[in-house]
Amino acid sequence: MDWGCGPGRIIRHLPEVINSGCSFYGTDYNEQSIAWCSRNIPEVNFNLNHLEAKLPYQNDFFEVIYGISIFTHLSEAMHYDWFNELYRVLKPGGILFMTTQGANFLVKLNKAEKTRFEAGALVVRGKVKEGHRTFSAFQPKTYMLALFDQMEVLEHVEFPIGNVKVVPQDIWIVRK
Ligand SMILES: C[S@@+](CC[C@H](N)C(=O)[O-])C[C@H]1O[C@@H](n2cnc3c(N)ncnc32)[C@H](O)[C@@H]1O
Repeated sequence: MDWGCGPGRIIRHLPEVINSGCSFYGTDYNEQSIAWCSRNIPEVNFNLNHLEAKLPYQNDFFEVIYGISIFTHLSEAMHYDWFNELYRVLKPGGILFMTTQGANFLVKLNKAEKTRFEAGALVVRGKVKEGHRTFSAFQPKTYMLALFDQMEVLEHVEFPIGNVKVVPQDIWIVRK
């Protein structure tokens, strides 16, 4: 399941790439994205959700859920609400694959934000429209470890920044 699938940039490829009898799901709170995906990607089941953490799937339903740059647009309360909802619909033994704006993003933070981040607190800026790029959240490692307290952390990948213009997000792979 692709949580925050947008216009299906990733999920549209999976039925062909993982051709092994899996079922594929995408969900997003953007009505236009979900309408477009539903019309154009018939191999995937799409669902429109709302900002609030509520999904129409039964408990322990998915084997894998990924969310590419979704926590990065959510408030602190939504981090916990959405983690709990994803946990609910994930099977025991299932995998969450999430990206966050970790320590690489210190270069983008102002002094006050840096102090907060280095103290292990979530930094939220913008706060114009939650879920949108005008709302940006930065997650220290210790913050994510606390959020994933009930999970087994399999990998936390922090890419080197290198010479790129786009700062790479961290990857978290955790198991229920
Ligand atoms: C930066 S985009 C990433 C889109 C997609 N994951 C990708 O990598 O191409 C963030 C996406 O998260 C979605 N989003 C934000 N808040 C959401 C929420 N509470 N529930 C579901 N989707 C959400 C936005 O609508 C948007 O499609």
